[in-house]
Amino acid sequence: MILIGLPKGRIYKEIRQLLENSGIHLKEDKRKLIFGSSEKNIQFSILRGWDIPKFVSYGAVDIGIVGKDVLLETEEENFFEVLDLEIGKCRLSLAAKEKKVSELAGSTIASKFPKETNNFLSENFIDAEIIELKGSIEIAPILGISDYIVDLVNTGNTLKENGLKELKVIKEISTRLIVNKSKFRTKNKEIKKFIQRIKSD
Ligand code: PRP
Repeated sequence: MILIGLPKGRIYKEIRQLLENSGIHLKEDKRKLIFGSSEKNIQFSILRGWDIPKFVSYGAVDIGIVGKDVLLETEEENFFEVLDLEIGKCRLSLAAKEKKVSELAGSTIASKFPKETNNFLSENFIDAEIIELKGSIEIAPILGISDYIVDLVNTGNTLKENGLKELKVIKEISTRLIVNKSKFRTKNKEIKKFIQRIKSD
């Protein structure tokens, strides 16, 4: 039996479609936290995306499907990132109201992605202050608590509606498949079979 953690939210429908295309049909049940599928040895659980690296690292679920944005920030390490599912594509970008990239030194940047923002700053030898927020990042420059933001951009509509401009793409993001390290050995056959199935789609 393998247990696979899926992230709730906007990417969920795309993942369900990808599984359907591989002939794996979810037997969702609103009351159940763990549910089965058309494959009798594959079960699923819907989790919060940000918690998936932890559930996988602890071996609570064998496999996790999660955005690269979450993987960039996690402190967990007990998993292998084995596959880019090439769905949920977006980018992690620097944006601001009027500021330019050249004015970053000494500024403030609001983000839900402090680790990757910090990497970007140090790779470019820029000293700036990161303000960590948990959501509604676009409001930060409008209310004046930061000069810039680093956030996910898909269509760009959220930035536009809030009078912000995308200045620089920091990382291309997509949905990845991760596997617990020891489960990869002990359940190797089942895990490989599942990966092959969704790959051949
Ligand atoms: C993400 C991101 C932006 C928005 C970008 O938020 O934080 O706010 O999507 O998409 P767009 O370029 O197509 O407008 P999401 O709705 O996923 O929720 P979040 O605030 O929890 O991140």
